[in-house]
Amino acid sequence: MPEYAKMPVIDNPNRQWPSGQLSLNPAWCAVDLRDGNQALPNPMTPDQKKEYFKLLLDIGFKEIEIGFPSASEDDFNFCRTLIDENLIPDDVTISVLTQSRSHLVSRTIEAVKGAKNVVIHAYIATSDLHMKYVFNMTRSEVIETAVNTTLQIKEESRSLVQTGSRIGYEFSPEEWSDTDMDFGIEICEKVAEAWGFEKNNKIIINLPMTVERRMPNEFADMVEIFLNKYKYRKDSVISVHVHNDMGCAVAATTLAVKAGADRVEGTLLGHGERTGNLDLITLAMNFKYLGINTGLDFSNLPAIVSKIEEITGINVHPRHPYSGELVFTAFSGSHQDAINKGFTQKENLIKAFKGWKIPYLHIAPDDIGRSFEKFIRINSQSGKGGVAFVLNNEFNIVMPKWVQKDFASVVQNYTDKHHRELNPAEVKNLFDGAYINSDANLSLVNYWPLPDEKNPEIIHAKAEVRYRGEVHSLMAEGNGPISALVNALKKIDEISGFTLEDYFEDSMGHSADAEALCFVSIKNSSGKQFIGGGIHANVIIAASRAIVNSINKMLS
Ligand code: KIV
Ligand code: ZN
Repeated sequence: MPEYAKMPVIDNPNRQWPSGQLSLNPAWCAVDLRDGNQALPNPMTPDQKKEYFKLLLDIGFKEIEIGFPSASEDDFNFCRTLIDENLIPDDVTISVLTQSRSHLVSRTIEAVKGAKNVVIHAYIATSDLHMKYVFNMTRSEVIETAVNTTLQIKEESRSLVQTGSRIGYEFSPEEWSDTDMDFGIEICEKVAEAWGFEKNNKIIINLPMTVERRMPNEFADMVEIFLNKYKYRKDSVISVHVHNDMGCAVAATTLAVKAGADRVEGTLLGHGERTGNLDLITLAMNFKYLGINTGLDFSNLPAIVSKIEEITGINVHPRHPYSGELVFTAFSGSHQDAINKGFTQKENLIKAFKGWKIPYLHIAPDDIGRSFEKFIRINSQSGKGGVAFVLNNEFNIVMPKWVQKDFASVVQNYTDKHHRELNPAEVKNLFDGAYINSDANLSLVNYWPLPDEKNPEIIHAKAEVRYRGEVHSLMAEGNGPISALVNALKKIDEISGFTLEDYFEDSMGHSADAEALCFVSIKNSSGKQFIGGGIHANVIIAASRAIVNSINKMLS
């Protein structure tokens, strides 16, 4: 690895931003159709762009950069389509990008004729790296170019203003985070002076981290210094535009907003050159989590994500914050157990913490259109809590702790053998196989539990059972229908050596016709445990089935 050039130190000893509050909602500008699209292996077709534009509107974006019309016919035509087909709502501002080059400006202005609210966005790189080694220009030549471009845009857009368009201006000193601080301020001031100041249509000064070469705190320091020194702070909207080369775009943008930035640019899922731009979804959801009303609606995030995947041809990583398939999923047993416990005490937790808080879950899945069903998934890492959660959540099956423990080992044995995740239906099949559908060595043909005429606490059992093909009529008594049946069954010599250890019953759901689910645990003469389950609308039948199933397990 080469030794990398050191970035100049940013000296900001009196920084205030660390204690700045994230309480204000910045303006949100989506640059998917320009920065995002230009970085796609297969750029969007005109129809896809229209669809994407609509998606951005549906989410609630009011500022959308729609392209680089002087760079391609496609982008030019797309601008025209949106304007000519009247597809831009009155409260939405579109912006178009242009390099600071004279012949490109005219084409850009032509592209936006007739639009109601437009921002012309001009940029020129201001880092020494670019000015010297890419453009071969001096600092004053770069300032002159930026100022001349600004004046040209102002002049040429006059006719649009006369025909009723509201024309705003955005200037980006590209590579700003690698630009000398004073020079960056100087060029922005000169550009702002050239454009002029209008109270209700402020110039946007967009500060890009074109290549992420600095840590988020340094970027925040730079933004704070800029805001303190730049003469026209009150007359300008200060925007940030961060790329994600070091994976910190969300952090850098967050800290820049803490430092005072008014506006953020980015893309959904972070599409953009190389490792992409700031992911607007992550930032907006983080802000929402912090209690800020962003005005952006991600309540149907799975649909948004699949639309973007379809249009861009790039799949989102399953662990991508908020948007990935696995963001709420727990495979590990201890996590599943904690989530399960959190959910069963949800109301208490909300009271105790004065707000939604569940172990291992960052936000409430339904806030982004995810349901609770699928986020505990079962594989060989899963424990009893996860398995219990899936059966309860998907099939209304409540298991007592002693069944949970037993069933976890059934699932573990299976997943260890098959080395793959189980879906809920497979978990249910295993459950049925383990407790409900056991081998029929013994089956109950009829059972009449009758209370004693004199003492109703005594139950007389009359049972007809088939055991290894032979029907037996059995009579016994007990202090309840279950113990009476157990006593009757013990009359068959071969199965008499068991003892009833545990019993549990619950209803499968809350409606009046919900079935009962019973579990019985018995031990054989050498102390080995066997658990059986039974389901029926009648709780006594459900319990009888559970007893028979537990004995069948012992026999097999
Ligand atoms: O990344 C960048 O610097 C840009 C500018 C054109 C704003 O996309
Ligand atoms: Zn960019």
